[in-house]
Amino acid sequence: MCKIITVANQKGGVSKTTSVRNLAYSLGELGLRVLAVDYDPQSNLSASLVLEDTHEIGTTIANLMTMAMDEEKLPPKSAYVSQRGKIDFIPNDIHLSVVESNLRLEMGSEKLLFNILEPLCEDYDYILIDTNPSLGPLTINALSAADSVLITINPEFYATIGLQDLTKTILKIKRRINPKIEFEGILMTMCDMQTNLHKEVSAEVNEAYRGGMRVFKTSIPRSIRVGEANRCGMSIMEYDPKSKAGLAYMEFAKELSGYAG
Ligand SMILES: Nc1ncnc2c1ncn2[C@@H]1O[C@H](COP(=O)(O)OP(=O)(O)O)[C@@H](O)[C@H]1O
Ligand SMILES: [Mg+2]
Repeated sequence: MCKIITVANQKGGVSKTTSVRNLAYSLGELGLRVLAVDYDPQSNLSASLVLEDTHEIGTTIANLMTMAMDEEKLPPKSAYVSQRGKIDFIPNDIHLSVVESNLRLEMGSEKLLFNILEPLCEDYDYILIDTNPSLGPLTINALSAADSVLITINPEFYATIGLQDLTKTILKIKRRINPKIEFEGILMTMCDMQTNLHKEVSAEVNEAYRGGMRVFKTSIPRSIRVGEANRCGMSIMEYDPKSKAGLAYMEFAKELSGYAG
């Protein structure tokens, strides 16, 4: 059964896009069928998946959202789902920021993204949605479409400040729009393994949520190789398969999917 996971945090620079990119790759390597959706106007995920041929991007999620708002019939899947290795993805372009403004004026628009993704569910084990750093209409759409939300946090960067606003928003969406949404859990990223700060933050979260929020056992180390891989449009596993960050993302994919080997 397909699970739609939205990766969210209203802070920027906490490894949302990097985690979607590398989780998608790792799940693909585990033999799972993955669709990644770039739902951030900055289009970093598309850039990392398409790199040189961004001008060749066909129908984007921004186009699909506009069609959905105008109640037009959507084109066939082949017109908007691209492939990169084992990853299928729906690219994006900057027009998504126009979509965001229009969503503010549109009635009952929260489920538009879900309506686009639902027919695709039969083809995938996981649909991963990358979001923009805000709690605005785009993120609300992405959360309204999701079965669960994965929160990435960087323990060095006032990690837990803002976490309550995010969880409050998610709980509101659960009550008002999308009763099925659950917390997938928290992934600690960009961790300096020598400082143990990630363990302290993990304990802080456990205390604040009385164990009601899963913090993944696997955390992702900070590594200059991750940024290099991103710049080359590669997953860290392709760029440097033996790197600690690459092994960690692979381990994380197993933990998240319950892969038993
Ligand atoms: N584990 C990591 N180690 C080092 N740098 C990282 C790591 N994860 C992400 N980065 C870098 O941090 C920056 C922000 O990451 P990004 O995934 O774009 O965050 P977000 O999508 O939350 O804004 C990027 O330059 C990225 O290359
Ligand atoms: Mg991003």
